[in-house]
Amino acid sequence: MSLTKITILLSLLVLSHQAELHSFHLTNNVLSLEESEDSTEIVSDHLVQPTQVFNRSSLQSVSIINHNLTSIKEGTFDNFLNLTNLVLDNNQIDSLPRDLNLPNLRQLTFKNNKLVKLHNDSFVNLRNLQILKLDYNELGEIDPNAVAGLSNLKVLTLSHNKIEHLPKTVFVAVSGLVNLDIDNNFLTVIEETVFDSLEELVTLNLKNNLIKTINGGAFRRLKALRDLNLAQNHLTKLEHDVFHHLAELDSLHLENNFLEELPNGVFQDLGGVGRLLLTNNSVRELQKDVFVGLKQLRNLKADFNEIRVLEKGSFYGLPFCYDLNLSYNKIDHLPSGVFDGLENLEQLLLNGNKLSTLDVGAFTGLTALYALNLENSKIDDLDTLEELPKLRLIDLKGTKYNNMTSVNIGKYVFNVNKYNNWVLN
Ligand SMILES: *[C@@H]1O[C@H](CO)[C@@H](O)[C@H](O)[C@H]1NC(C)=O
Ligand SMILES: *[C@@H]1O[C@H](CO)[C@@H](O)[C@H](O)[C@H]1NC(C)=O
Ligand SMILES: *[C@@H]1O[C@H](CO)[C@@H](O)[C@H](O)[C@H]1NC(C)=O
Ligand SMILES: *[C@@H]1O[C@H](CO)[C@@H](O)[C@H](O)[C@H]1NC(C)=O
Ligand SMILES: *[C@@H]1O[C@H](CO)[C@@H](O)[C@H](O)[C@H]1NC(C)=O
Ligand SMILES: *[C@@H]1O[C@H](CO)[C@@H](O)[C@H](O)[C@H]1NC(C)=O
Ligand SMILES: *[C@@H]1O[C@H](CO)[C@@H](O)[C@H](O)[C@H]1NC(C)=O
Repeated sequence: MSLTKITILLSLLVLSHQAELHSFHLTNNVLSLEESEDSTEIVSDHLVQPTQVFNRSSLQSVSIINHNLTSIKEGTFDNFLNLTNLVLDNNQIDSLPRDLNLPNLRQLTFKNNKLVKLHNDSFVNLRNLQILKLDYNELGEIDPNAVAGLSNLKVLTLSHNKIEHLPKTVFVAVSGLVNLDIDNNFLTVIEETVFDSLEELVTLNLKNNLIKTINGGAFRRLKALRDLNLAQNHLTKLEHDVFHHLAELDSLHLENNFLEELPNGVFQDLGGVGRLLLTNNSVRELQKDVFVGLKQLRNLKADFNEIRVLEKGSFYGLPFCYDLNLSYNKIDHLPSGVFDGLENLEQLLLNGNKLSTLDVGAFTGLTALYALNLENSKIDDLDTLEELPKLRLIDLKGTKYNNMTSVNIGKYVFNVNKYNNWVLN
């Protein structure tokens, strides 16, 4: 449908006798006036009769989806004073109407269009807007004042664009933001202060960018943040204070980066974090006390790294951790007492490491451990496992015990089950 047709259609609506009309949906040339899925859909051309005056201000929701619209004429939405929801997804629009004057608009979604730039003051007259979704456009540039008029904004999604840089002050005026998604863009640097105004932010998604550098103070004011996603970036190191002050954080995603080391104290303020994901990095060493501060951590994934060095104290400060994944590292030695502090650990994955001999004392302290995975290792003796009072399940596939139907650990016998695990009778 062409732009002219849309404009005509809107004019027809305006002129038609639809005093009760609250909602207007146009998808694939099918117009419907109800929001419900099963409402009668009527082909647009036959719908509206330009009979009596229709009051524009009664309309609350307009969606025009999948229409190959390339632009929106100025004035198209004039006087839609009661409009709360405007959806223009899946079109070809390359610029936002500059003059949108919709004082009651709560949600504007503009996904999958062809926007290339957010200009200064793009949204001056949308002071009640709470949700703005601009995902899947071609946004490369954002002016410093692009969202400045949106003082009530709560949700801003900019995923799957081409954003390389965030102006330092771009979020200053949207200080009530709760969700911010900038994943799948081309960001390389997170500068200090850019997020400083966002004291109510709960989720920040920066996944799959090209971020190499995060200034140590970048997140310091995000005191309500619960979910921080930095996965799939190009991080090789972290500033020691980069996560300081994030007292509400619950989930921290750092997987699929190139981190080589974890600085001491980097997690010290993260007393609320339950999940820490470090899968698929290049960390070589877990030095003593590196996880201190993670008082509520339950789940730690450090699989697919280059960890060779563990020491007594590597896991200090993790009293509630019950699931630890160290699969596919380069661990060849477990020093005595290395797992001290993990008194609630139930599952430990050490498969795919270079372990051969297990030293006496390697597993002391693991008083709750129930399941141990030693798959694909060169383990040559199981006696040390006697140190695990609660052990019930061992995985020994790909070891020299592979074809044995039962193994002895001290006075206990573990028999292979149909899943190819060895379980205590
Ligand atoms: C439309 O509705 C508004 C608010 O209810 C009212 O002030 C205005 O006069 C109406 N306009 C017309 C043309 O009826
Ligand atoms: C616009 O919304 C207000 C408040 O909900 C309502 O009182 C008014 O009748 C609406 N206007 C029209 C024309 O429906
Ligand atoms: C949009 O363009 C595509 C490709 O040219 C076409 O297949 C489709 O029918 C068009 N949709 C509308 C609603 O005109
Ligand atoms: C946008 O606004 C900022 C600050 O007011 C100004 O420095 C900048 O030059 C403006 N950019 C454009 C493209 O107008
Ligand atoms: C590991 O991370 C790199 C970098 O993000 C990525 O290219 C690779 O696909 C990831 N590997 C796996 C197994 O996910
Ligand atoms: C542990 O990591 C390995 C290797 O990445 C993965 O295959 C496995 O699903 C993970 N298991 C758990 C319980 O995290
Ligand atoms: C286990 O038995 C299979 C044949 O049943 C054999 O190919 C394999 O080499 C044996 N593995 C070990 C570790 O002995």
